[in-house]
Amino acid sequence: MNTCLSTDHVSVSYGSGAATVRALRDVTLDFRPGELTLIMGPSGSGKTTLLSALGGLLTPDTGEVSIMGTTVRGLDQEEAGRLRQRSIGYVFQAFRLFRSLTAIENALVALEIGGVRGPRALDKAKAALEAVGVSHRANCLPSELSGGEKQRVAIARALVNDPPILLADEPTASLDHASGEQIASLLRGIAAGARRIVVVVTHDNRWLERGDRIVEMSDGQVTKDSGEIQ
Ligand SMILES: Nc1ncnc2c1ncn2[C@@H]1O[C@H](COP(=O)(O)OP(=O)(O)OP(=O)(O)O)[C@@H](O)[C@H]1O
Ligand SMILES: [Mg+2]
Repeated sequence: MNTCLSTDHVSVSYGSGAATVRALRDVTLDFRPGELTLIMGPSGSGKTTLLSALGGLLTPDTGEVSIMGTTVRGLDQEEAGRLRQRSIGYVFQAFRLFRSLTAIENALVALEIGGVRGPRALDKAKAALEAVGVSHRANCLPSELSGGEKQRVAIARALVNDPPILLADEPTASLDHASGEQIASLLRGIAAGARRIVVVVTHDNRWLERGDRIVEMSDGQVTKDSGEIQ
């Protein structure tokens, strides 16, 4: 199946009454495989909310999100969970590794959730760490890793089940300049190499040269899209 991800006139609000915040207003986007799309915009413009909607973590008030051809609305929790599990990898600013598990065990957990165990799981976990350049750190705890290494392990964990879509929220915001550059080019390669859809939320202009497409948001709306599909 073709890799696909889209939003169609999606709006999301938080709260109610006078306290209602309209976090996304009528957002329509279609992502293409093989591309790294940057979502940029000021704090509070709705970037994380958009990523949550794209990941099927929230159901929009109006409009539709489609992940790999399946509309999120109407799925029960279990179905949505299964769709996320097989389609999407997530990477976060704060890595979110399990602190008491080694690098390879962090990757193995993701495989176990996907039902892969035993020697096959071990091979896949090793290959994922290898692919992001941290196989030599496989038996280290997160506390023994640098920020850049932690993020590589988090990316390995996100990719270990080979999802067609990778969503990353400020993946380099906690990293120094050099590590940030390396992670940016790693994610660029992850999009191009396996024709994945990679969506990166960032404030950081250093990403600009790595993005195939740049979507700018302001106040819940898309204000500019370098790769708008006509
Ligand atoms: N759980 C929530 N409850 C209420 N309001 C929320 C919630 N999450 C986000 N918001 C509000 O929705 C709007 C969009 O928030 P969002 O987190 O998507 O912005 P962002 O662009 O990711 O910002 P930042 O760059 O600071 O991470 C903001 O006004 C925010 O205060
Ligand atoms: Mg955010």
